[in-house]
Amino acid sequence: MPIPEKFIQDLVDRSDIVDVVSSYVRLSKRSGANMFGLCPFHSEKTPSFSVSPDKQIYHCFGCGKGGGVISFIMEIENLSYPEAVAFLARRAGMQMPEETDSAEGRKRARMLALNKDAARWFHAQLSEPAGRAAVAYIQKRGISPAMVKNFGLGAAPDAWDSLLNAMLRKSYTENELFDAGLVKRGRQGGFYDAFRNRLMFPVIDVRGNVIGFSGRILGDGEPKYLNSPETLVFNKSRNLFALNLAKKSKSGYIILSEGNIDVVSLHQAGFDSAVASLGTSLTPEQARLISRYTGEVIIAYDGDGAGLKASQRAIGILEKLDIKVRVLRLTGAKDPDEYIKTKGPEAFRKLLEGSENQMDYRLRSIREKYDLTVTEQKSDYLREAVELLAKLPDEVRRQVYAMDLAHELGLPPDVIVNDVERRRKRIVNGAFRETQKQQARPEKLLQPTARELRYDDPASAAAEEGIVRLLYLEPSLIETRNLPPPEDFSAPGLGKIYAILCRRIRAGQSVSTDHLAGELSGDELGLLVSILQKPEILSKSRQSMADYIEKIAERKERRDGATDLLALQSQLKKKKGYEG
Ligand code: CTP
Ligand code: MN
Repeated sequence: MPIPEKFIQDLVDRSDIVDVVSSYVRLSKRSGANMFGLCPFHSEKTPSFSVSPDKQIYHCFGCGKGGGVISFIMEIENLSYPEAVAFLARRAGMQMPEETDSAEGRKRARMLALNKDAARWFHAQLSEPAGRAAVAYIQKRGISPAMVKNFGLGAAPDAWDSLLNAMLRKSYTENELFDAGLVKRGRQGGFYDAFRNRLMFPVIDVRGNVIGFSGRILGDGEPKYLNSPETLVFNKSRNLFALNLAKKSKSGYIILSEGNIDVVSLHQAGFDSAVASLGTSLTPEQARLISRYTGEVIIAYDGDGAGLKASQRAIGILEKLDIKVRVLRLTGAKDPDEYIKTKGPEAFRKLLEGSENQMDYRLRSIREKYDLTVTEQKSDYLREAVELLAKLPDEVRRQVYAMDLAHELGLPPDVIVNDVERRRKRIVNGAFRETQKQQARPEKLLQPTARELRYDDPASAAAEEGIVRLLYLEPSLIETRNLPPPEDFSAPGLGKIYAILCRRIRAGQSVSTDHLAGELSGDELGLLVSILQKPEILSKSRQSMADYIEKIAERKERRDGATDLLALQSQLKKKKGYEG
């Protein structure tokens, strides 16, 4: 039985390609819309594997592999189409259509729905009298309305059964509420709200599910935070507060702090990559989760002894995963929230950038490797330090550091400064040549990477690609008059893709790469994705379509003519008795 289109669509909607790919490949942000990483399908040293969050596709311009989230799982897990769909469904907490009666799957889905309803209800309390104390606390802490909305903050009223009753009215059962950790069982066997008189923070996973809650006491008191217990959908040590937001940050690093208020405060000040662990010190699972999104973590724990100890532990865990770690020293404030409140976001940014300290730190690490009283080691130190300084983008800073270095080693400053600049030039030139090489590449890449798909008639193939691209982007163009039959395509691979597109569009079906992954081979899908990445001006789509059609017809005539000519020639030859 084929899997229903609607199910595939829901599944794809809930399986963000960046999230899925990130479990296998470390992607880093570049300027522009795409993310890059080392291709998992062939071995390489510089990244040619790109993922487009907008188009939800991946493509490697090194090996030609490409597709959507489903084909990625097919390739990397070596699964068939239905198997990959099942794999992703499990991951997204969706039940496969056949297994609607899987008890656990249904229970999970119910619990997630309940959590979402509870989060909405807590949020709505902020506009009710029962939420006044929480609103006052929000104001006192200077949390903006935008952040209240962004984080979906809410209020647990100072009552024993208001959430309980609200959710019973929505036809959830007491047991369901209990299993979700939203109510507790009293001595007499009755149930009561687990979160009372607290500021509520929904904990949302990277897929957007509300998996649990943290409730902060309104003011001082113990315990400061109450977190959901372990449930079918919530595991404290495997999730981080606000990672759902931080994963979208463009900053390139993740800021790890302790308290939920710190996180909110950081986001409010523009540091949108802040997360917090949920009342535990950082666990290896959380670190692994982080490593999917970034290669650099900045620890901004509270400045007290406990914070320091926790930092040390976190550093160890993160460095094992090859994540670069920096620790902020929040002098004069107890935590990031207070630091920002008293000194302002700019001061915090300076602290974060702290590149000077970072450079000093790195220079010091290099220095410590050598014994500077030994001439040979001294020159090794010099070489390595110059190399490091040359990487500084800022010319003034390069000079300042170069002069310090000269001073330190008792050498003439201008010699070292020149040395650094020479080295710098070489680095810049190298990078320039590299981009030039890459920009020159598309010409060569006109041909599909897969050998079986090579084009015999590149001029026609270019037009065939154009039709495929246009139909994919604008299926209504299927109405265009005089569309050629697939047999007229010079490239059989393109003809096959074209035929499938036409059939699906006419049947009113989706043509996304995820739906096509079941019908095309990996190479064909890769070819399709590479075609989709070439530019097309949609405002002129009708005109381009007509041009492509004409081109294909013209090339076909030419090819037919050529074969006719060949046939004619051989007939003539036969007649003349040259052959046979
Ligand atoms: N904590 C917790 N559960 C959470 C978040 C934090 O148990 N969901 C614990 C941490 O383990 C840590 C402390 O609470 O011990 C962090 O508190 P703090 O940074 O002080 O929290 P904030 O929300 O920033 O509160 P404050 O405004 O008082 O700083
Ligand atoms: Mn704090």
